[in-house]
Amino acid sequence: MPSARLLPVLLSLAAALSAATPPGTPEAPGAVAPAAARYEAGPRTRDGIGKYYFGREISQVMGHLGAGWLERSEREEEERTDLLLEALRLRPGDVVADFGAGSGYFTWRMAQRVGPGGRVHAVEVQPLMLELLQANVARRGVAERVLPVLGTARDPGLPEGALDLILLVDVYHELEFPFEVTAALARALKPGGRLVLVEYRGEDPEVPIKPLHKMTVAQVRREMAVHPLEFVENLGVLPRQHLLVFRRPASAR
Ligand SMILES: C[S@@+](CC[C@H](N)C(=O)[O-])C[C@H]1O[C@@H](n2cnc3c(N)ncnc32)[C@H](O)[C@@H]1O
Repeated sequence: MPSARLLPVLLSLAAALSAATPPGTPEAPGAVAPAAARYEAGPRTRDGIGKYYFGREISQVMGHLGAGWLERSEREEEERTDLLLEALRLRPGDVVADFGAGSGYFTWRMAQRVGPGGRVHAVEVQPLMLELLQANVARRGVAERVLPVLGTARDPGLPEGALDLILLVDVYHELEFPFEVTAALARALKPGGRLVLVEYRGEDPEVPIKPLHKMTVAQVRREMAVHPLEFVENLGVLPRQHLLVFRRPASAR
């Protein structure tokens, strides 16, 4: 019998698996053009997976051993995560997602902001990260506002049309299936809901991060343009990262 702590994770995994499209299944009528065809094989560099999307090599996923780095005490000062959270303008009662949540650095901070009436779906592909996250949110006393979700590489396992905001911090560049995942994230937003991408600035050689773990604004916008998402703004408030806001059009069905 799974423990009560693990039950939500197992249920989310079952939902994600049943919703996943088997390889070769045709896209639904009216789906966005098959950008998956844009994946190309190429040289595999040191931090990459040898798979290219819009000319960009996809980076390797940060393993659970990187959790200590995500939780480092100097992170707030280096990345001004306080300004990032403020810029999200979360309101009590909001239903949001922390996609690629890692150890939950942003999950519990978002949970504090949405209050007892709000919810944070915390999506991870690594079960060990999700365990760290659950311990983290329990320690902060916000576990009842957090729904841990074990997603798959192609399917975030999020409900459709349900979310006010989805946050991806340092995640997008390492998605193995960026087209499929972004399409699912766009569907998970309410009309008018926001998708917020935070990525280290690829244009800036001074940002001390490996090149495949950075992105330029032009590259992000190229990749988002194949989805039913509008570009809203690039909030220039962070010292090292872009904070790019996209929105599902309010008229979306
Ligand atoms: C660099 S970490 C960032 C974690 C967190 N956003 C933070 O800033 O503290 C990226 C995380 O994204 C997760 N990830 C990568 N691909 C994913 C996918 N398809 N679905 C969900 N999580 C994913 C990885 O497992 C990893 O924990």
